[in-house]
Amino acid sequence: MEILSVTLPRPDDFHLHLRDGAAMADVLAHSARQFARAVVMPNLKPPVRTTGEALAYRDRIQAALPRESHFQPLMTLYLTEATTADEIARARDSGAIIGVKLYPAGATTNADDGVVDLAQARTALEAMQQEDLPLLIHGEVTDSTIDVFDREAVFVDRVLEPLRRDFPALRMVLEHVTTQHAVEYVQAAERGLAATITPQHLLYNRNALFAGGLQPHYYCLPLLKLESDRQALIAAATGGDRRFFLGTDSAPHPRCAKEAACGCAGIYSAHAALELYAEVFEQAGALDRLADFASRNGADFYGLPRNEGTVRLIKQALPIPASYPFGNDEVIPLRAGDTLTWRLTE
Ligand code: NCD
Ligand code: ZN
Repeated sequence: MEILSVTLPRPDDFHLHLRDGAAMADVLAHSARQFARAVVMPNLKPPVRTTGEALAYRDRIQAALPRESHFQPLMTLYLTEATTADEIARARDSGAIIGVKLYPAGATTNADDGVVDLAQARTALEAMQQEDLPLLIHGEVTDSTIDVFDREAVFVDRVLEPLRRDFPALRMVLEHVTTQHAVEYVQAAERGLAATITPQHLLYNRNALFAGGLQPHYYCLPLLKLESDRQALIAAATGGDRRFFLGTDSAPHPRCAKEAACGCAGIYSAHAALELYAEVFEQAGALDRLADFASRNGADFYGLPRNEGTVRLIKQALPIPASYPFGNDEVIPLRAGDTLTWRLTE
């Protein structure tokens, strides 16, 4: 029988880009409506490198929230080769920082200040291991001789595996996994490793980037991959393995920066994140597993209390607008102009 509604414990987004200023104010309400909490990425310009900067950013987020919202931003620091053990201790003591994000330098949007040589970040990594502050990883190598579609798999073999050997007690999240290789690596890990999965990597393969012409709004990093990779991601998300959980990687960019000769990476999905995931889980015949993926596994990994209260999705047409306001431009959302089949009710 067709399932017409799904009730979930209030979910969390464990990987979100909120940006800053007027642009942030335009997108924040979307996430606040869908999620109780979100892990907020630190790749602002300049990046969020200290606890002080993270707390100030959190204040700006809270000030921009709709008045009645109880949305809770979970802050992150941007790891650099200059991050000190003291900074890690401050982050831990603040109680406001949920993890530290590793961007290999140049790997993605605003990753220029990231880590070139991981050996230079040893002190910080040791302190994080000591303080049990998780490392959140953009898992792609930046070596230009490596094919762009292989960069996650090569990262897993050449960087992640040695890193896990060197820091066996450091808990890590391989963010936005995109390949069967990464899924199998996470599944084979004995402990301390989890992964987030985005809606776009569950819904599309790399053909979407070139369907009928170059499609900049399907460009994100890591790139969409093969259909076999997508199937492995669906199996991981819907298969009941507690190490996989929801992280949208919703990454809004002004339209002019996407529809450009050198368009930037990032897909905006915060407007309908749960509806998009529901579509995937329904197609996989696994709607009963959505609650674990969206509302339990991530909180459990991070040692956060599970949220109280519920949200409800109903089977009802949800038209997606062609764009949303975004600072002094607009942002084109995933599935712009299309109609989704699920709708989050108030
Ligand atoms: C993100 C962004 O725009 O900040 N872009 C993306 O394609 N995912 C950065 C990131 O998470 O890689
Ligand atoms: Zn991201």
